[in-house]
Amino acid sequence: PTPLIIDTDPGVDDAVALVLALRSPEVDVRAVVAAFGNVALDDTLRNARQLVALLGRSDVPVAAGASRPLVHDLPARAGHVHGVDGLGGRSAGLTDLAPLDPRPGVDLMADVLRGATEPVTIASIGPLTDTALLLATHPELTERIGRVVVMGGALGAGNVTGAAEFNVHIDPEAAHRVLTQAEVPVTLVPLDLTLRCMVGTPWLERLAGADPVCAELAAMIVPYHAFYSADHGRDAVAMHDALALLECVAPGSLRTTPLPVRVACDLGPARGATVADHSADATGPRVQVALDADVPTVLEAVLTRLASV
Ligand code: BDR
Ligand code: CA
Repeated sequence: PTPLIIDTDPGVDDAVALVLALRSPEVDVRAVVAAFGNVALDDTLRNARQLVALLGRSDVPVAAGASRPLVHDLPARAGHVHGVDGLGGRSAGLTDLAPLDPRPGVDLMADVLRGATEPVTIASIGPLTDTALLLATHPELTERIGRVVVMGGALGAGNVTGAAEFNVHIDPEAAHRVLTQAEVPVTLVPLDLTLRCMVGTPWLERLAGADPVCAELAAMIVPYHAFYSADHGRDAVAMHDALALLECVAPGSLRTTPLPVRVACDLGPARGATVADHSADATGPRVQVALDADVPTVLEAVLTRLASV
């Protein structure tokens, strides 16, 4: 199996992504790093430890990542989307906690890379802060990274501002660092695709009926589903991070286009916008931008993997 590091901020769709990864035999989850993001670091870290314990995988190291962005800490969290605890109000009922690995998240990632004999995939499904710090502080290890798969960005409309997606907007400098380097291949899974891959009540009912872990996930999703359905005016909820994880465990699930992507890092209204260069003579490292997929196949694949015990 491919060694996998998950850089996350659980988060309801992060929870779905974690379960998908831990139930996919093609990958070996070697580390979970939880950073600030959807909610504050204390909450995302507790949630990550609870989720790993819920899966009976307390052998997977869970460490604390960044508590704030690299440069500008503009308070913006998503408790109104994911619940004040980050898990749709379900955290209080999850009493088992996987142990906390004492290493800082970046050190844990570096140790996993040093110990790996095969290329490691990094799934970055929250702020890109820790992945950017890893690339910046351990250039000697970048050759051990097979690919970074990022859920983030939007070539069209954003979800925090008109132009910016949450994971990029919350730390644009970190996102720019990851998306514009040439050492490590990057696949970007932006809103343009994840908002085409929404699920509704029939999918969620199948999830709820699969097994106790999936029933717990479905319970976490209830308020998140209500938020998305109200926002989009129909019975639909986005599983952003789970799509990025699907691409990690089953490469090629999403169809990509190679494009140079830069991030607007000024403090004006474009802050956090991901700007792709579509011109024929575009220069700079190309990111594989996932802009298309066979949507029903992808949604069925996510559900099948979640429900496989
Ligand atoms: C991204 O932002 C977070 O709220 C989700 O967990 C996902 O990673 C979607 O924009
Ligand atoms: Ca996330």
